[in-house]
Amino acid sequence: MKAVAVIPGKKESVHLTELEKPTVSDIPEGRGVLVRVLKIGVDATDREINDALYGNAPPGYEFLVLGHECFGIVEEVGPNVRNIAPGDYVTCTVRRPGGSIYDQIGRSDITSEEVYFERGINLLHGFLTEYFVEDAEFVVKMPVGLKHLHVLAEPMSCAAKAVLQAYEAQKRLQVWEPRRAFVMGAGQIGLLSTLILRLRGLEVYTMARSPKPSLKAEIVEGMGATYISTQDKPLKEFAKELGKADLIIEATGSSAVAFETMEAIGHNGAVVWTSITGGQRMVEVPSDFLNLDWVLGNKLLLGSVNANRRHFEIGITDLALGEVTFPGVIEKILTNPVDGLDGYQEMMRLLVEEKDALKVFINVAED
Ligand code: BGC
Ligand code: ZN
Repeated sequence: MKAVAVIPGKKESVHLTELEKPTVSDIPEGRGVLVRVLKIGVDATDREINDALYGNAPPGYEFLVLGHECFGIVEEVGPNVRNIAPGDYVTCTVRRPGGSIYDQIGRSDITSEEVYFERGINLLHGFLTEYFVEDAEFVVKMPVGLKHLHVLAEPMSCAAKAVLQAYEAQKRLQVWEPRRAFVMGAGQIGLLSTLILRLRGLEVYTMARSPKPSLKAEIVEGMGATYISTQDKPLKEFAKELGKADLIIEATGSSAVAFETMEAIGHNGAVVWTSITGGQRMVEVPSDFLNLDWVLGNKLLLGSVNANRRHFEIGITDLALGEVTFPGVIEKILTNPVDGLDGYQEMMRLLVEEKDALKVFINVAED
């Protein structure tokens, strides 16, 4: 069967390769789930991997099959699989356990090991192929009524984790009632974080460079949040005018913006960084000011990556709630479909060149 792969460490090496079709019995103890791939989404991580900034091939392979945002239909299950059956629509978590205590309790998303295993990203092949088999533990059901949102389940799980982590960490304050949130970036994580925070009743300001009108702004406003172009009003100025935020989710992909958020968070506030920045950028920061302000304001900064099964389930529940609260808005994120695995070059082109693409995904097979 066909698969789309890269040679990690070699720039712009995306190509088509061949893999053997997996079988349910590849997974031990009768826990295998064989999935026919329907759609795979790609994001900035795939772009960085193809730019040789990130990612590693599985041991024994020169290539890495891409694809970590998956959506498919179950074709067959092993004898010990309970809650998943042929015909179910599913997605899959990305990270697989290593050896730390966090991995052992099902929290590989917060592994303490330097080496992590992620399908389609690091040391494990991804889903950008025709079939894959996986342990039922990592397969997550998508309700049939959400199948039109398909590949958004994975990015939604990362946004769900980011927000949840902030709320969990803020229990340190005993009575945290965030009112105003800034979301930096209106890519998929920014937009989905906007959705989650709006569903929790926060006043949300989502900021990105491009001026209005734009699809991003339309989606943000469709979710009852306010879109701010940082070209019109830089974050610092905006925060001075309106007041600082109680919660900031940073998802621009720019480490410079990540540091800027530190000046826009209010007392007792939390900043969550989610951008993956594989480059070498350096910025100067007002360190004395930040240090003093953060100490005096009891502020919290946390990094959040990946998501486990629970975050997928929370994310999927929020997608469902989002659908009934802001009907028809979420699917506008799914901007750029590409037909078939053979379209992999067009997929990369869109990812690199199409600045307005909110979500590039491949239609691998018909339902
Ligand atoms: C993926 C996450 C992953 C992260 C770091 C993101 O694009 O969605 O699942 O943990 O990259 O590799
Ligand atoms: Zn991703």
